[in-house]
Amino acid sequence: MAENRRPENMKRITTPELAQAFIEEQLAALRSQIGDGRVLLALSGGVDSSVVAALLIRAVGKQLTCVHVNHGLLRKGEPEQVIEVFRNQMNANLVYVDAVDRFLDKLAGVSEPETKRRIIGAEFIRVFEEEARKLDGIRFLAQGTIYPDILESGPVKAHHNVGGLPDDLQFELVEPVRFLYKDEVRVVGKALGLPDSMVYRQPFPGPGLGVRCVGAITRERLEAVRESDAILREEFAKHGLEGKVWQYFTVVPDFKSTGITDGLRTYDWPVVIRAVNTVDAVTAEVAELDFGMMAKIVERITHEVKGVNRVLWDLTPKPTGTIEWE
Ligand code: XMP
Repeated sequence: MAENRRPENMKRITTPELAQAFIEEQLAALRSQIGDGRVLLALSGGVDSSVVAALLIRAVGKQLTCVHVNHGLLRKGEPEQVIEVFRNQMNANLVYVDAVDRFLDKLAGVSEPETKRRIIGAEFIRVFEEEARKLDGIRFLAQGTIYPDILESGPVKAHHNVGGLPDDLQFELVEPVRFLYKDEVRVVGKALGLPDSMVYRQPFPGPGLGVRCVGAITRERLEAVRESDAILREEFAKHGLEGKVWQYFTVVPDFKSTGITDGLRTYDWPVVIRAVNTVDAVTAEVAELDFGMMAKIVERITHEVKGVNRVLWDLTPKPTGTIEWE
């Protein structure tokens, strides 16, 4: 395994020119490591794996196979964007796996947060393993490991390690962004021509919307999480807040309250909104937002999302509240 420390003389990648130099250097390094071998990559559509995919497509083209697993817990439009950008625009080998029913069936009735995480993580490895076994002659596994993951100071990925592939499926690792910090990965992604909505994407947990559909996941409540999240993101983007507020999302708890619509009483779920700023996700503060925008979001969610009659704004800093609700 190569060095584990970022070379001391490595310049911080802050400009398109520096990104270009990094890209050229990595293309040469990737071609020399991979030769005419085949590479596999789990492509979530997050910044890190997307940048690795774009680099590898340039370096070795069709020798790369990307596997995108839709576990049913992705945000609205995400699987479509991965297919559009990587298969249609970049002409990559992309295997799209619709595993929605499989994950939701496994999760049915499970309410304990860490058990939900374990099921999602373990099932993900299983689906990926099955896909890997269908492909012949793969020697390399590419990963979007970034420097904070190596330093293990990043709480973001540190606590959801669910183990890896079985021993007979061990590949040589390809990790072209392992010495980069997140902001550098974004500069490189931009220089590689990835869309802004991918490059400036807010962090999204591996278990996805699964930990925002509090308690046992049902398809209806999951849909309410997905639709309300889409409205929230749309309104934040309209107000120029994309990439400015660190993380913002909706949560749907598993209780109902009374409401009234068109003179009739309803008994529906609330949507909780969380919008926070942080440097390292260890502590976080609530984002101060324009009240008019907040009111507009409340109005849209209560009118457009099925099964929802109330919106609550979470004003709790971390500590005491974690960023996610589970
Ligand atoms: P908390 O909720 O612990 O979240 O304050 C801190 C950051 O970590 C993200 N997070 C996760 N990321 N798998 C992930 O990949 C997880 O299981 C997970 N849980 C929380 C969270 O979104 C926030 O950015």
